[in-house]
Amino acid sequence: MDDDILDGLLAAMPLPSLAIDGTERIIAANNEALLLIGHQAKGHNYVTILRQPALLDAIELTLNDGRSRRTQYLSNDGAHDTTFRVSCRAAPGVGQGGAVVTLLTFEDISHIEQAGQMRRDFVTNVSHELRTPLTALMGFIETLRGPASNDPTASARFLSIMHDEAERMNRLVGDLMSLNRVEGDERVRPTQSVVLNNIIRSTIHTLQPLASEANVDFEIEFPDVPVQIIGDADQLTQVFTNIVGNAIKYGGSGGRITVRMTPSAREPVLRAAGVRIQIIDYGVGIEPLHLPRLTERFYRADNHRSRDLGGTGLGLAIVKHIISRHRGRLRIESELGKGSTFTVILPVQGNF
Ligand SMILES: Nc1ncnc2c1ncn2[C@@H]1O[C@H](COP(=O)(O)OP(=O)(O)OP(=O)(O)O)[C@@H](O)[C@H]1O
Ligand SMILES: [Mg+2]
Repeated sequence: MDDDILDGLLAAMPLPSLAIDGTERIIAANNEALLLIGHQAKGHNYVTILRQPALLDAIELTLNDGRSRRTQYLSNDGAHDTTFRVSCRAAPGVGQGGAVVTLLTFEDISHIEQAGQMRRDFVTNVSHELRTPLTALMGFIETLRGPASNDPTASARFLSIMHDEAERMNRLVGDLMSLNRVEGDERVRPTQSVVLNNIIRSTIHTLQPLASEANVDFEIEFPDVPVQIIGDADQLTQVFTNIVGNAIKYGGSGGRITVRMTPSAREPVLRAAGVRIQIIDYGVGIEPLHLPRLTERFYRADNHRSRDLGGTGLGLAIVKHIISRHRGRLRIESELGKGSTFTVILPVQGNF
């Protein structure tokens, strides 16, 4: 086959692709491949162009025995690494005078690599989070068996700490299961018709004891009309329980929390009718560097304080998934020393 025809064929391939002949020269390549390996590549020996040992070995073997192989190729555009899965295959009869040509195609598999990395990080995090309370429990069991075995006062104190640690593990497992469920049905649109005023009021009612304990008062600013949306009542309750709970736990020093609901016929962020629910505290605030990462799993702005308060760092990750299932948005603003504002924006059917 003529090299021009080969070029034409490769140009029609959606993946970066190139062809190497029996003299080890790159005889054809499409634009996608040239972008990846450099525009001068054509006509050169593949060894001087491709340079990565795993790939060179695979090509050499396929040139010799004609068998198909797969390997990887890493590229870096200065900003990010990209991982390609390269397949090397012999194409008999395609070269000049019917010679064998070796065809390489490059498939970007960075997303698979990233997913693998995320899974590994996740397992590391979960193990670490579980191990901390477990180590404490094991230590106390040893103490109860030994030094404290005849000391009822110490035993009672240790048992109470052990109870708290076991509860922390229980909460962690509960949150993990909840995150799993929420991620699982993120693509399934909710179908219930719910009244947000009622959901938020009952959330606040449930959290009232926690707020009283922290000397926090609620200021509720709701519209007079009921705001009805299509949503999942349990999940929305989870969203507001976590955000309001956080405002009490971390922002409670401000003494009050404002919960404001503002429906509007045209919510700019959604470009449609929507409702904003703002949970505003006047406490310590969050440093700007933490803001973009707060919704990551296990991320805590103030590690010690959050742990002391029993936090697992999964709350806002769950919130984010639920809001995205509802086709909404979450905005977080904060100023150190002044407080934080968490804004949930949800679509509303119909008009006001
Ligand atoms: N209102 C707030 N004021 C200050 N910091 C906050 C506020 N809300 C959240 N944070 C910070 O964000 C972090 C993440 O919150 P998130 O709800 O995801 O986890 P958590 O409360 O630590 O644990 P969980 O909610 O799973 O029990 C918290 O650890 C805290 O450091
Ligand atoms: Mg929380």
